[in-house]
Amino acid sequence: MPNTYAVILAAGQGTRMKSKLYKVLHPVCGKPMVEHVIDHISEIGADRIVTIVGHGAEAVEATLGEKSEYVLQAEQLGTAHAVEQAGTLLGDLEGTTLVVCGDTPLIRPETMQALLDHHREEGAKATILTAIANDPTGYGRIVRGADGTVERNVEQKDATEEEQRINEINTGTYCFDNQALFEALKRVDNDNAQGEYYLPDVIRILKEQGETIAAYVTEDFTETLGVNDRVALAEAERLMRARIAEKHMRNGVTIVSPEQTVISAEAVIGQDTVLLPGVMIEGATTIGADCVIGPNSHIVDSSIGNETTVHSSVVLNSSIGNETAVGPFAHIRPESNIANDVKIGNFVEVKKSTIGNGTKLSHLSYLGDATLGERVNIGCGSITVNYDGKNKHETIVGDDVFVGCNSNLVAPVTIEDESFIAAGTTVTENVPKRSLAIGRVRQENKEDYVKNLNLKKN
Ligand code: UD1
Ligand code: CA
Repeated sequence: MPNTYAVILAAGQGTRMKSKLYKVLHPVCGKPMVEHVIDHISEIGADRIVTIVGHGAEAVEATLGEKSEYVLQAEQLGTAHAVEQAGTLLGDLEGTTLVVCGDTPLIRPETMQALLDHHREEGAKATILTAIANDPTGYGRIVRGADGTVERNVEQKDATEEEQRINEINTGTYCFDNQALFEALKRVDNDNAQGEYYLPDVIRILKEQGETIAAYVTEDFTETLGVNDRVALAEAERLMRARIAEKHMRNGVTIVSPEQTVISAEAVIGQDTVLLPGVMIEGATTIGADCVIGPNSHIVDSSIGNETTVHSSVVLNSSIGNETAVGPFAHIRPESNIANDVKIGNFVEVKKSTIGNGTKLSHLSYLGDATLGERVNIGCGSITVNYDGKNKHETIVGDDVFVGCNSNLVAPVTIEDESFIAAGTTVTENVPKRSLAIGRVRQENKEDYVKNLNLKKN
């Protein structure tokens, strides 16, 4: 909608978190909570998004980057004082301003949109998003007049016993007529229990001026959870995790045990893929259709094709193609590109390597800084010797190469197409096309020698 602006409050230290990390940067399902808030606002669309930063300003700006403009609140004198800082950027504009706290990551874009719609329908100067809480402790309470309209908000610490019994709470999300907001902010004082400039006082001030104030009551209190401490953080994580899992299940992904499955907010997963218990999918990971992931796999910032299985394995910042089998107990380290129809079996480690279609490393191998062609077979226990103590070196293996068990490929080295490396060979020189390389001590049998060994008889 045109002339819509958003202000996000993110300057507080978050004392109750007892953390070195600034509160709004604490991750929920792998994404800093303030970034959830910004992404939700971006989904509904705002002409300008301004984030108020203070504690950890540099870290917050580095995390959000271009997603927002920033204004510094050098001293944290309260939420009204925080919004006031945005006046330099937004003060004169005509339109509607949505204000959201950086510590309420669960408020859905649909709810923000409903709040804006309600605000416009009511022709209000201010509309507050409220919720009914079973336990309203810690939240501001909504005081309504005899006619049922909102009069003001009272903070927990300023509330009388009677007001503390009110269970309609201020979620910390509002929309305002932009100019009315910045005018009213000038009148907010700090004459209260915390000596702070409270943003919700704007509601009372506008009401006293005879302006129309509205409230939009959300159906779901859990959506409005404000994360002030680690107990609430764990609760937010649980709720967000359930929400993400539900989205994937509705899209056709089977999640055998949603409680034991962690999926990042950005992950994309195809239809008929099955996630078994103990799976953790982090960052911008994409998984195709008809895959089986898990049990117990950890996949970070990676892409996986269709019909691929990843059993009890770790995949980091890599890509894996279609119809490929990984694990159990494989470790795919960053910058690996694995093509289609590949088999990476148990106890195989792959680092910064490219593996062509149809290639197999079925057991106990280490592949580092290597390029393998198509239909290569790497026998059990064979490894690349990529590090000489100072530098890393590359191994290049062509198509249709057979590497027998327990071979050492000492890099830098190239093995050309269709060659055959005999088991136990230490390859130190390049191997030409279609050659057999064999480099191992010849076996000698000493007949009847055992009697000289003085072995104890049972
Ligand atoms: C606030 C509301 C309360 C509401 C609750 C909802 C006020 C006075 N109280 O309380 O009515 O029920 O949110 O979760 O607004 N911040 C700044 N600068 C400041 C102070 C705070 O940027 O000077 C930021 C914080 O980083 C935080 C947000 O504003 O993201 C809310 O501040 P917080 O201290 O958590 O307010 P609450 O006590 O939760
Ligand atoms: Ca809060």
